[in-house]
Amino acid sequence: MEEIGFLGLGIMGKAMSMNLLSHGFKVTVWNRTLSRCDELVKHGATVGETPAAVIKKCKYTIAMLSDPAAALSVVFEKDGVLEQIGSGKNYIDMSTVDAETSSKISEAITSKGGYFLEAPVSGSKKPAEDGQLVILAAGEKALYDAALPVFDVLGKKSFFLGQVGNGAKMKLVVNMTMGSMMNAFSEGIVLADKSGLNPQTLLDVLDLGAIANPMFKMKGPFMIQGSYPPAFPLKHQQKDMRLALALGDENSVAMPVAAASNEAFKKARSMGLGDLDFSAVHETVASSKSSS
Ligand SMILES: NC(=O)c1ccc[n+]([C@@H]2O[C@H](COP(=O)([O-])OP(=O)(O)OC[C@H]3O[C@@H](n4cnc5c(N)ncnc54)[C@H](OP(=O)(O)O)[C@@H]3O)[C@@H](O)[C@H]2O)c1
Repeated sequence: MEEIGFLGLGIMGKAMSMNLLSHGFKVTVWNRTLSRCDELVKHGATVGETPAAVIKKCKYTIAMLSDPAAALSVVFEKDGVLEQIGSGKNYIDMSTVDAETSSKISEAITSKGGYFLEAPVSGSKKPAEDGQLVILAAGEKALYDAALPVFDVLGKKSFFLGQVGNGAKMKLVVNMTMGSMMNAFSEGIVLADKSGLNPQTLLDVLDLGAIANPMFKMKGPFMIQGSYPPAFPLKHQQKDMRLALALGDENSVAMPVAAASNEAFKKARSMGLGDLDFSAVHETVASSKSSS
């Protein structure tokens, strides 16, 4: 892969495109808020004025956008991807979206002769910076094979999961599980605290047992302090819960734990916490007043 286009320079897109630059790839970037390209330019990127301009310039283009609405808009709207996609062009969408959104994008791109791969990722800001993401790809296998040198830079492991939609579904299942775990963890910290235990001791105990995991270890100390610097914005976690619940609906899978967790994330959004890290859902429990 010679020149790579990159659409979307949020928390993840910025870290991923920086990583590509530092590994010697030529990268052409675009972001809706164009000023966010400046820092990448300082590190050697060039700027495409529109998604269409990036597609025109690059044989391979990656997108990392917030949600289904953003992913669709960048492809279908004026100056979007579809205006320049065609034979010999390759589009890899790494945003977390639902299978239906991904399929719509895939159909539009392949009907114009382009190749499409969905490749959402597991892992957050730090793994993105360190090239330690887990890549959940599905779609055009030839494009997956061609993209492996890029995935090797961005991630520690990639999976090819078959037809379009399977990557999206896998990502939603993973994040539904993670969101439910985060709520149970928050309740545990608050219960320890309110019942007279030291929450730090709870973290130490959890870390030595069978439910020890990197997420509790990394987020726990910040949560105890009520500090939530955004690595994975809470609004995106709630979007993933919502999309996972819809997948549950489609497949008649009852998910009462996920449904309750979604309500907690919605509550956190209503409290103005959407742009903080998803661990800020802790505040929905920690800040509730006890009545006795
Ligand atoms: N952060 C994580 O830990 C993490 C981990 C795994 C997967 N993900 C997924 O990766 C994706 C990106 O996450 P992030 O954390 O990087 O989010 P973010 O920091 O909120 O960045 C979102 C990006 O999407 C762009 N965008 C939003 N709406 C748009 C629209 N209508 N048209 C064009 N561009 C639009 C934003 O542009 P502006 O700069 O103009 O707002 C920005 O570049 C999401 O799907 C998320 O669920 C995130």
